[in-house]
Amino acid sequence: MDAIELLLTRQSCPRLIAPAPDEDQLNTILSAGMRVPDHAGLTPWEFIISTGDGLEKLGELFVAASKAAGEDETVLVKVGNMPLRAPMVITVVAKVVEHPKVPVLEQHIAAGCACMAMQQAAFALGLGGIWRTGGLAFNQQLHQDLGLSADDQIVGFLYLGTPAVNAPIKPLKSADHLVRYL
Ligand SMILES: Cc1cc2nc3c(=O)[nH]c(=O)nc-3n(C[C@H](O)[C@H](O)[C@H](O)COP(=O)(O)O)c2cc1C
Repeated sequence: MDAIELLLTRQSCPRLIAPAPDEDQLNTILSAGMRVPDHAGLTPWEFIISTGDGLEKLGELFVAASKAAGEDETVLVKVGNMPLRAPMVITVVAKVVEHPKVPVLEQHIAAGCACMAMQQAAFALGLGGIWRTGGLAFNQQLHQDLGLSADDQIVGFLYLGTPAVNAPIKPLKSADHLVRYL
């Protein structure tokens, strides 16, 4: 797949099954994440990989965080199973530092670019992925349990695996109504 084809056809895949990316594929995916625009070279991100037992652990952390937020039993069961929707989840964290020229927003954007680049790499490798967030991305208990610092922010849970079905490529949206010239 060439680069333009990737950019024009990339799409998310919510239904993911084993196998997870293998070691080589994961290295490629992580390297793509490291290739993103990065003002002042801060690399303001961290990738927390869950696979195998790690998915169960992530589910347990989701349950603990949701319990702390006062969620009911139905929600607790749901969140506990969420990481099991794929054979690998990469929690993409913006590791924010204070910098005179790089505001927090730019560091969040850079971490988001890393998440996007990793999804694109997975897609180009014939794998599937979907970038998810939800309330847990902003849950302080979860941040603590994952060992994040106070200013860090989860920008995405990148679910990766093998597409369960070969979904047709969705039609491309037109940019016409979103573009203007000065
Ligand atoms: C920051 C961010 C957070 C997202 N969070 C979720 C989410 O929690 N759940 C979800 O189903 N989709 C979420 N999405 C959207 C999906 O990643 C995906 O883009 C959407 O389903 C459209 O599919 P497509 O990528 O094939 O166009 C999020 C996207 C972004 C950029």
